[in-house]
Amino acid sequence: MANNGTYPTVTVRIQRFDPDTDKKPYLEDFEVALKPGTTVLDALHEIKTHQDGSVTYRRSCRHAICGSCAMHVNGKNELVCKAPLKDRLDRKGRIVIRPLPYLPIIKDLVVDRSSFWEQYLRVKPWLVPPEDVPEKEFRMSPEEVAALNNAETCIMCGACYSSCQVIALNKQYIGPHALLKAFLRVMDPRDTIPGERLADLDGGDGVFRCHTIFNCIDACPKNLNPTQAIETLRKLAQKRQAFEEARVERQKHLNEPIPAR
Ligand code: F3S
Ligand code: FES
Repeated sequence: MANNGTYPTVTVRIQRFDPDTDKKPYLEDFEVALKPGTTVLDALHEIKTHQDGSVTYRRSCRHAICGSCAMHVNGKNELVCKAPLKDRLDRKGRIVIRPLPYLPIIKDLVVDRSSFWEQYLRVKPWLVPPEDVPEKEFRMSPEEVAALNNAETCIMCGACYSSCQVIALNKQYIGPHALLKAFLRVMDPRDTIPGERLADLDGGDGVFRCHTIFNCIDACPKNLNPTQAIETLRKLAQKRQAFEEARVERQKHLNEPIPAR
């Protein structure tokens, strides 16, 4: 993407840090051509390919699916593969890219997501279906699908997790990403352990640790609502037994046709 003078040049300011040589992170400026359709990820590619091969970042799909390219751009977490460069420039034609906040930096824009994945596994993110799986498919009603609130479209990018100030102070908090996944499982009529899940989430690091800061909603590139999911889990945790009994009843009819309305 070399500039032949046809396109304006803009400044991409990147936070650099190499733990082998640097005492602390610093900012470094690179100039790139602003071609039509350039994303922030394209600009990073241009820099890495033609200017400095040591610039380090994660990416894979380039289509907002894999979740690996979440970074802190101009003070906000987002997927850089879906961010148009021209829309992120300030009046001086400059953009600032940093790694996701509140996580240890491995190198430049790459952070250590261990705590993120540990909390995710803690909520048993897999579905636990009934033992007697029917020959035909399980059936969910349109209302049951709607109640999931698109939580199944989460791509685990970490943007919500690293925008949450509770996480900044306390890595024991389960976090919005894992609580959203727990919500997905609890609300799924096929899941057999909603009571156990709700009991786990009721502890000191669970749903009542959320301070309703809302940063997770602002950060989510898929427009999901972890705060609302956490609020729903709080309410369900308080009527856990009744919810569990209703689930047992519901599962007696899981492979029956949904009545027409
Ligand atoms: Fe954090 Fe979202 Fe709650 S930002 S405090 S999980 S509302
Ligand atoms: Fe996969 Fe951006 S590269 S979400």
